[in-house]
Amino acid sequence: MKVCLIHGPNLNLLGIRETDIYGKDSFDDINRKIKQYAGQLEVEIRIFQSNHEGEIIDVIHDARNWADALIINPGAYTHYSYAIRDAISAVRLPAIEVHLSNVHAREEFRRHSVISPVTVGQIVGFGTMGYLLALDAAKQLVERTHR
Ligand code: DQA
Repeated sequence: MKVCLIHGPNLNLLGIRETDIYGKDSFDDINRKIKQYAGQLEVEIRIFQSNHEGEIIDVIHDARNWADALIINPGAYTHYSYAIRDAISAVRLPAIEVHLSNVHAREEFRRHSVISPVTVGQIVGFGTMGYLLALDAAKQLVERTHR
């Protein structure tokens, strides 16, 4: 099975950016851990990062042609991008939303996600581990629908 994992804006600065909130793992460390775990689960994964809304939408559209599931951390787009929400809804792939930080314990504006209604669910507050939990969830979801 194949998973498309998308990191949204500013996540390329992980390890440098607000490490008290997002942890010390660098962007490359996180991707290494994700790829290693995907290998253990025998999941083929392609990882993308973009700071641009339109590029994220293009990646979601393209995933329609090859992926079985989406894992997405939309960064701040989470809170206001109806365009990303519509893209996820349009491709009809099961999607899992991940946030490194516990968005519910932070500023008020982070508590609301316009993306969540078109996802299977959210994993928030577990740092890097959140992506690994999302991989487990994606695998089980896809296997269940093919059984
Ligand atoms: C984030 C939470 C968002 O509110 C924020 O804008 C981010 C990162 C997270 O992973 O915790 O860029 O998505």
